[in-house]
Amino acid sequence: MSFLIVNQGRYISHWVQALKEKKPDLDVRVYPEVGAPEDIEFALSWNHPLGAFKQFPNLKCIASTGAGVDHILRDPDLPEQVQITRIIDENLTRDMATFVLALVLNHMRDLSHYKALESTHTWKPKRYLRTEDVTVGIMGLGVLGSHTASQLVNLGFNVNGWARTGKELDNVTVYTGAEQLDTFLATADILVCLLPLTKETANILNKNLFEKLPQNAFVINVARGEHLVEADLIEMIDKGHLSGASLDVFREEPLPENHPFWSHPKVNITPHIASTTDPDSAVLQILENYERLQQHKPLINVVSRTKGY
Ligand SMILES: NC(=O)c1ccc[n+]([C@@H]2O[C@H](COP(=O)([O-])OP(=O)(O)OC[C@H]3O[C@@H](n4cnc5c(N)ncnc54)[C@H](OP(=O)(O)O)[C@@H]3O)[C@@H](O)[C@H]2O)c1
Repeated sequence: MSFLIVNQGRYISHWVQALKEKKPDLDVRVYPEVGAPEDIEFALSWNHPLGAFKQFPNLKCIASTGAGVDHILRDPDLPEQVQITRIIDENLTRDMATFVLALVLNHMRDLSHYKALESTHTWKPKRYLRTEDVTVGIMGLGVLGSHTASQLVNLGFNVNGWARTGKELDNVTVYTGAEQLDTFLATADILVCLLPLTKETANILNKNLFEKLPQNAFVINVARGEHLVEADLIEMIDKGHLSGASLDVFREEPLPENHPFWSHPKVNITPHIASTTDPDSAVLQILENYERLQQHKPLINVVSRTKGY
């Protein structure tokens, strides 16, 4: 049983090294040098070329190197019998929460404003809000969203969350489904998107949704670029309804040279760095699934192909 890495440009040598360190006898192949296609039963993947997996008749599992699986499920030629897994990792979860905290605090205390004043040597204190004056609304209360919510609660923020199904989270008011979306949005001074990208959530951050946020709300998208209708965001900021946005993910990455976000004074850009998988930390769960597959045991961190996450 051979192990294939199809990981376009992302940390391939780091993954090979981490796998080999933990399991020196593993037969690792790196796409497109696949050898005999019938040998491949397990694939580790990030942004594979569409259709690439249909050539492997014995493929049983495709493991995403990240928390999201949209890059796998978008392939219309995905073999039907194959199980899809994702990474659930403490470091990944903690890194996302700390990054969202950094963005929320940066916005609240207006650190970018003071940075800009440095160029004119201007000393100009502004009134500021305290955490208890601010409500953060988190869309998506899964592994990343629920941990981020609890960290915000610990800092004293009012935190509301929105998910598909109900759940109990300490000091977080949870709203569910389309019926409760508007009520959730009406409270969110800062809206954080931590949804998976699925048919239901694509383009969810649009003008219609922004209109339901309070005046001056701030938007943070750390999930996927396809959640956001980019022109709607710019329109709602320029109209003065939204106070700005911090975006880590984009429809096209890297963000094109001439994209209007680059020069927009109220849009902060980071290059998809909110939280990245560390192969050294995530390799154990990948190898565990590889072993489980050989022993015909149920895999861990399996996603639902029907739900799309
Ligand atoms: N920028 C980065 O560096 C970075 C890094 C890692 C991950 N991400 C993104 O973050 C996403 C979330 O990761 P995760 O591990 O937290 O995912 P997860 O554990 O699968 O959680 C997904 C959450 O979204 C909710 N949800 C899904 N579809 C929904 C819908 N139609 N309406 C309302 N709620 C819906 C789910 O509701 P239920 O709980 O009711 O099922 C769940 O609470 C990933 O898919 C990935 O795209 C970005």
